[in-house]
Amino acid sequence: MKLNIAVLAGDGIGPEIIAEALKATQAVATKFGHEISFEEALVGACAIDATGNPYPTETHELCMRSDAVLFGAIGAPKYDNDPAAKVRPEQGLLAMRKQLGLYANLRPVTTFPSLIHQSPLRADLVEGADFMCIRELTGGLYFGRPQGRSEDGNTAYDTCIYTREEIERIIHLAYTYARQRRKKVTVVDKANVLATSRLWRQVAQEIEKEYPDVETEYMFVDNAAMRIIQWPKSFDVMVTENMFGDILTDEASVITGSLGMLPSASIGLHTSVFEPIHGSYPQAAGKNIANPLATILSAALMFEYAFGLMEEGKAIRNAVDASMEAGIVTEDIAQADKAYSTTAVGDWIADYIQQ
Ligand code: IPM
Ligand code: MG
Repeated sequence: MKLNIAVLAGDGIGPEIIAEALKATQAVATKFGHEISFEEALVGACAIDATGNPYPTETHELCMRSDAVLFGAIGAPKYDNDPAAKVRPEQGLLAMRKQLGLYANLRPVTTFPSLIHQSPLRADLVEGADFMCIRELTGGLYFGRPQGRSEDGNTAYDTCIYTREEIERIIHLAYTYARQRRKKVTVVDKANVLATSRLWRQVAQEIEKEYPDVETEYMFVDNAAMRIIQWPKSFDVMVTENMFGDILTDEASVITGSLGMLPSASIGLHTSVFEPIHGSYPQAAGKNIANPLATILSAALMFEYAFGLMEEGKAIRNAVDASMEAGIVTEDIAQADKAYSTTAVGDWIADYIQQ
């Protein structure tokens, strides 16, 4: 196959982790005889510095004409610490999601046997936990307008909006994935307080009837936050709105050992985007210490979801498992002081794939 991949490394550790994901991607392509082309473009703080726009038109055009997008991370301390900044790196990510119509963010939460001891939870609670969080990605509070400040600057407001159509398409998607898994959907909302959540629940209750073979459970988000800690194995497919999904998946990622492990796939109307769920970790940038596994696993998701190449995805996963079993890992998940650098881990994985 001929695969055209747009590469958006972004900020902070983005370029370092993306470089390792590209090594793994190239290794798989070589092994399985695919012709691959990588084309890079700017997004985030580096795009603001170069063009003034966190998601420049050229970047969008590249994404549109590519078969998939591999995305690193965005964000920079100078913006985090300046609430008055007019243009922010995160706007680049949100604009990309909106313009590519990426309404569903799939965040698989799985455990790795060799990482269980790193979990802040007891091993018996997390061992075997395996669920998919489907986060709505282009609606809700992160996109609702109006958003802003009063004239005197002392009052601020955001708007949470959802339409029936936005809810319907993602709920159907949740059932589609549940049917391929253990046939259970948990709809997470705050229907006891929020009008948008009540619409979510109403629409989900209607759609539920079309999938009688799938068990449906409704849960308030605060309760879900607790249950992820208390009984993560009770979830199969969790579907929720944008902000709840953002928060719950950071929580879910650490129960499996490290935020540096969780990949994601954003799918929707145009080209799909594959990115780690973690951020740009500016404190580690340039130090060759960041964990590249979430990004390498995002490349595995890219082969599986964007290209339907399951064997290729599996080859990457196997190599990641092998690296962890061999202890070839970065400091966030290393035992004692046997930590390897970002590049050492990426090289080892690429070599393993090609063996
Ligand atoms: C994520 C990130 C982003 C989000 C930020 C960087 C805008 O936290 O992908 O989870 O909130 O969606
Ligand atoms: Mg987040």
